[in-house]
Amino acid sequence: MNDKKIGIIGAGKLGLTLAQLGVQAGYEVMIASSRAPEAIALTVDVLAPGALAVDTATLLSANETVILALPLSKFSHLLDDSFSHKLVIDAMNYWWEVDGQENNFSDGASSSSEKVQQLLPDARVIKAFNHMGYHDLADEARAKGEAKRKVIAFAGNDEAGIAQVTTMIEDFGFDPLFLGPLAEGIKLEPGSELFGANLEKAAFVSILQKMK
Ligand SMILES: NC(=O)c1ccc[n+]([C@@H]2O[C@H](COP(=O)([O-])OP(=O)(O)OC[C@H]3O[C@@H](n4cnc5c(N)ncnc54)[C@H](OP(=O)(O)O)[C@@H]3O)[C@@H](O)[C@H]2O)c1
Repeated sequence: MNDKKIGIIGAGKLGLTLAQLGVQAGYEVMIASSRAPEAIALTVDVLAPGALAVDTATLLSANETVILALPLSKFSHLLDDSFSHKLVIDAMNYWWEVDGQENNFSDGASSSSEKVQQLLPDARVIKAFNHMGYHDLADEARAKGEAKRKVIAFAGNDEAGIAQVTTMIEDFGFDPLFLGPLAEGIKLEPGSELFGANLEKAAFVSILQKMK
């Protein structure tokens, strides 16, 4: 398996930013939306040059690592067996203005990524890249060892996936901070003090330590 090959589902603000970071880091990046690849190709060429616009089926057949960067409420349109055994990096947040009250993945007690894992029982879900806004992701990427590097925190249960996401966050220009099992990801979601965090590690950890 090529760990430096990713497919991103969702070619909006977050998906295109992650595609750009991936290409800059030397990853082979495919990106898809619900529209035909030709409909997003120009945008992809301009905002994430080097990434390849494809359809979702092609993306899923060609990639073992898939980032979910589409609205959470649209995710159920994708459910099928194509995610089996894949590393699924869930960057989605429940946002009621976008997702609607009826698609409530957020019950306040568990992480929305746990629900995504329940819907994809054969996939290996890791929650990552959800707490920082896309502008900050685009602006704050810094080489390893550079001062003022920001944290991307993540959570998950799959050991190989955790190792791969650690490397990916490093490669994309951030300090990885593993929080623990997928359930811990609730600390990164809307409503948490860490949602939106664009912080260096010491400041991030200081907030984390004050949380229950
Ligand atoms: N924006 C941020 O700063 C940020 C940061 C962290 C996390 N997030 C989370 O990331 C997710 C995406 O946010 P965003 O701001 O990037 O939204 P966005 O700009 O509206 O982009 C959403 C993308 O998903 C695509 N999409 C919709 N339905 C789809 C489907 N069934 N299959 C494949 N693609 C589909 C849309 O394209 P089509 O409609 O053409 O299919 C669009 O390209 C959300 O869950 C959000 O909470 C966002």
